[in-house]
Amino acid sequence: MSNIPTRITPIRWDDEKDEIVWLDNSQIPWKEVYFSSKKIGRLALAIKKLEIRGAPVLGEAGAYGIALAANNVHGSRKDVIDKVRSAAKTLVRTRPTAVNLAWGINRGVKSVELAYKEGLSIAEIKAAAVYEAKAVQSENIAATLKIGEAGKKLISDGDVLITVCNAGALACDGIGTATAPIRAAWAEGKRFNVLVTYTAPLYQGARLTAWELHRDDIPLKVITDNATGHLIREEKVTAAWAGADRILADGNVYNKIGTFNLGILLKHLGGRLYVAAPISTIDPITKAGGVKIEQRNQDEVKKIMGKLRIVPKGVEALNPAFDRTPPELVSAIVTELGIVQAPYIKSISGLLSKSRNKT
Ligand code: MRU
Repeated sequence: MSNIPTRITPIRWDDEKDEIVWLDNSQIPWKEVYFSSKKIGRLALAIKKLEIRGAPVLGEAGAYGIALAANNVHGSRKDVIDKVRSAAKTLVRTRPTAVNLAWGINRGVKSVELAYKEGLSIAEIKAAAVYEAKAVQSENIAATLKIGEAGKKLISDGDVLITVCNAGALACDGIGTATAPIRAAWAEGKRFNVLVTYTAPLYQGARLTAWELHRDDIPLKVITDNATGHLIREEKVTAAWAGADRILADGNVYNKIGTFNLGILLKHLGGRLYVAAPISTIDPITKAGGVKIEQRNQDEVKKIMGKLRIVPKGVEALNPAFDRTPPELVSAIVTELGIVQAPYIKSISGLLSKSRNKT
């Protein structure tokens, strides 16, 4: 497996204080601020405000949230179950599109329910929840390293790559998902350039992906979202690397708003769109159209980073956080269990059986 350093810890469990600690994504690149809390309400707020964000890290936050709820109980064994179920309801409502959040929460809840059924003590139930959340996190980290190993083969010397949003370590832990092949190919000595799209209105590309790749000395230039068509053609972009918040069984990919645009542009101009995500991002049940696309506060569009208003008073805005890229625009999906291509119904189902056989 890759020996690339995993230097960013977006979230962790403090064993001494029994609380969650996270790196506030909303203050990067200006400040590196860590928050900690024992309160489910504060964790929910952190997720809503994108202090904690990105599908895989949301899975970790969900599992740690359940550990927190369990550890906050000072009553009976049954109280732990009740508190954990109520925390699960609060947390799952915070962000609807990334499937990993519900996945991480469910893993935490199941671990608590199992420990309860087995007749374990309160202390043991609490420990089981923390153990499960840490397992979710270490599996995520391992998955990013494997995604890097698999995906680096799709990158060649001289490529010009483009990214959307931030699917780096801040969002996915480890070495990121979309950034994993980029970092692994770079570490192997391949040389290429990266265009990092702003990703308005919250600038996760400009603020976060640029911050991460720059720390690795990978050459990058930040571009506005509306420069993509022109620059993909003029700079001869070979491929986009995107993460995913949810991948359906038929290969429809839900990711940060703007991914669909990149897919269309690349298809028209002869480039490829690669999607990198762990298996936990695959939702084998929901059909296209059944996924709720999060609509965020209009003020994110009307004001630059919540401060300078740029839209005339009284004018409305639309702020969908994600879009759906259809499978015909996706050249390949890179996971910890390998790379799959169209027809996705077949290849994704193969991937899921492979994953079931491993557990
Ligand atoms: O709204 P965000 O910042 O939580 O957006 C999520 C993302 O970072 C992207 O959509 C990403 O590509 C998928 S999550 C690694």
